[in-house]
Amino acid sequence: MRIFLLLIAVTFIGNLNAAKLPVEKAILTAPPMVPPQITRKHPAKVIIKMETVEKIGTITDGVEYVYWSFDGTVPGSFIRVREGDEIEFHLSNNPESKMPHNIDLHAVTGPGGGATSSFTASGHTSVFSFKALNPGLFIYHCATAPVGMHIANGMYGLILVEPKEGMTPVDKEYYVVQGDFYTKGKYGEAGLQAFDMQKAINEEPDYVVFNGSVGSMVGDKALTAHKGETVRLFVGNGGPNLVSSFHVIGEIFDKVYIEGGTAINKNVQTTLVPAGGSAIVEFKLDVPGNFIMVDHSIFRAFNKGALGIISVDGDKEPDIYSGKQADKVYLPEGSTVQDVGGKTTKAAFAQSKSERIRFGKRVYESNCQACHQADGSGIKSAFPPLAISDYLNNDPKLAIKAIQQGLRGKITVNGEVYDSEMPAMRLSHEDTANVVTYILNSWGNKGGEVTLEDVANQGH
Ligand code: CU
Repeated sequence: MRIFLLLIAVTFIGNLNAAKLPVEKAILTAPPMVPPQITRKHPAKVIIKMETVEKIGTITDGVEYVYWSFDGTVPGSFIRVREGDEIEFHLSNNPESKMPHNIDLHAVTGPGGGATSSFTASGHTSVFSFKALNPGLFIYHCATAPVGMHIANGMYGLILVEPKEGMTPVDKEYYVVQGDFYTKGKYGEAGLQAFDMQKAINEEPDYVVFNGSVGSMVGDKALTAHKGETVRLFVGNGGPNLVSSFHVIGEIFDKVYIEGGTAINKNVQTTLVPAGGSAIVEFKLDVPGNFIMVDHSIFRAFNKGALGIISVDGDKEPDIYSGKQADKVYLPEGSTVQDVGGKTTKAAFAQSKSERIRFGKRVYESNCQACHQADGSGIKSAFPPLAISDYLNNDPKLAIKAIQQGLRGKITVNGEVYDSEMPAMRLSHEDTANVVTYILNSWGNKGGEVTLEDVANQGH
């Protein structure tokens, strides 16, 4: 009997496909979408067909880049299989490709993760098979030399191996992968930008983005959910260099599958996603509004592009989050009676228009610049431009009102619709007059001066 079993075992060695498993074709999805959860309770032989493609895309408005990709998107298609599945992987390299490519899947147990078996010249297809032994969320990437360059150009994605027992159902699942990009020109420099190997070696990216480009998940492309739903994000980091401090502003992760493995941490604010690694985060959306996904190494978010939005609709939940309830003058105790060195210090009030502009610049730099940018250009689809803004030049009172009362709902600036929420700023009338005067006299706007009376007349 024992010999008989041994014989059976021997016939299976050397050919994964010998087992009689049901065969199915993998459902692959482009980011930010995720294939449906796996419902079968048994292993299968899963056929995956992917293509490496080199093509020009837009990294930010007015800036193009030659991406190298799996299936034409950055990240490449999301792959979803089950623990114990046998995967027959077909990798085709588009005939137009200038380079050979391959794939190293971190879900593979075997030398190179499939890289040498899948090395494919343009116009060819390679086939190899592997068994998904370990459940988890794994990065895949091209590993053709120079490896760093292939990854830097966008050749990465995620493969999820669901555990045998399945995953808990959730309402929404999305696919978000961070990557850093290195261009000859600096951030935003227009035109077709070439890859800069030296910047990549120095680890000084011009762009740090989610899903391949600045603004990939804002405006019309924001992720969506309804209040009360639980969202699961499959988060990856293609690198090639940076480690991500992944955070969703205004949310707490109820669950984090640490590093995409099996251990679950709870009630997490920010989770580390290593280059070539992942995390699965889950959170219930208790209140409506815009929730901003960022790399909390925060200059990357507001100055290099690592920012995306989850837009949640539904009625307000004042028991959980009130919105602004009061705006009162704040005077630290004793401030009016302190006397330093026998001199009474007074806040400086602008005595002329040029002083207003000078003081206003300081107010702008500390309160407005992070979103609207130093040159007033704003951030496409998220923060409207203040430079040559028809919205402001037609009626500067709107700027006063936005600062004092906040701004929500759709506005159109220079022909583009913006639907992001600006909070009321805690600025004095003096600071408000100064900053609006500064804005009106900067970046090609129409000039003029806003006075304290103008601000008082627009008061709350
Ligand atoms: Cu490649």
